[in-house]
Amino acid sequence: MKTPPVCNYEGSDYQESFWEHGNRAYEDAAEEIALKHLLPSGNGHLLELGAGAGRNTHRYKGFEHITLLDYSTTQLQKAKEHLGVDEKYRYVAADVYRLPFAPGVFSAATMIRTLHHLSDPQLALKQTNECLFNDAVFILEYANKRNIKSIFRYWFNKQEWDPFNREAVEFVELNFDFHPATVKEWLAQTGFNVEKQISVSYLRTGFLKRVLPLPVMRTLEHVLQLTLSWAAYSPSIFLRSQVVNQNKPENSSTFFRCPACGHYPLADTPPILVCGQCEHEYPAKDGIYDFRLDL
Ligand SMILES: C[S@@+](CC[C@H](N)C(=O)[O-])C[C@H]1O[C@@H](n2cnc3c(N)ncnc32)[C@H](O)[C@@H]1O
Repeated sequence: MKTPPVCNYEGSDYQESFWEHGNRAYEDAAEEIALKHLLPSGNGHLLELGAGAGRNTHRYKGFEHITLLDYSTTQLQKAKEHLGVDEKYRYVAADVYRLPFAPGVFSAATMIRTLHHLSDPQLALKQTNECLFNDAVFILEYANKRNIKSIFRYWFNKQEWDPFNREAVEFVELNFDFHPATVKEWLAQTGFNVEKQISVSYLRTGFLKRVLPLPVMRTLEHVLQLTLSWAAYSPSIFLRSQVVNQNKPENSSTFFRCPACGHYPLADTPPILVCGQCEHEYPAKDGIYDFRLDL
């Protein structure tokens, strides 16, 4: 199966340049508030898709196990250094278009700041649904093309693309903004029932971040999330969905599947996992499983 191209973060200093030195304390706080509202009272096993350097991982309280999945091994390495050695965490390098998990193994999943790199979101959502069990919760963040700034830019001829048009807009290669109605449609088509929406980061402007202290921004953000979430005109939207009952197999001891041929079970035998059907080999080195194909 040929899969779409991946936005490659291998060797990237994203965590440092964007978050730690990029004046993004407000955005980070805004996401923390949204996650607090949306996260299920954790238990079971959570899958974090596009986990990057694990910036959000400590927010997933109560889960017995968390699997961090990212295409970039260097991001996962950073996450490992940041979270420390703990049996609770598992690190998996893989493509969201070809997930290496057996059906129904996770009780929850999150995908934050990752959908905007996907040219085929439906394929990734379908893969995600498959490895979640019935009634599992999925928290998805996406970049909203129909945000206030883009609407004004469009009205004043500063931007060519129409924020009300339901097509995705690729503003830089492999960077997409999506329309709220389209994302909800994709979720419904891939077996999710959207339960709750939170509009996040309404105050994301350089001016407000300069003039208002962070605690004030945080309080305002909290109020805006409570009052204006229905409107979905913010640059970032969080959705909580539940997997629609599909009579999937109950969570079993089988965890991995072969992303090359789809066969499972795939025995967890580091330092090399070998598929019993296609004999594809996957290394597991320094605590990071590597299921990437096409390298
Ligand atoms: C903008 S970063 C966000 C990281 C983290 N979720 C956060 O909010 O700090 C996007 C992440 O998605 C990962 N990613 C992009 N495309 C991917 C794919 N097809 N499969 C797996 N990971 C992918 C990148 O490697 C990167 O770490």
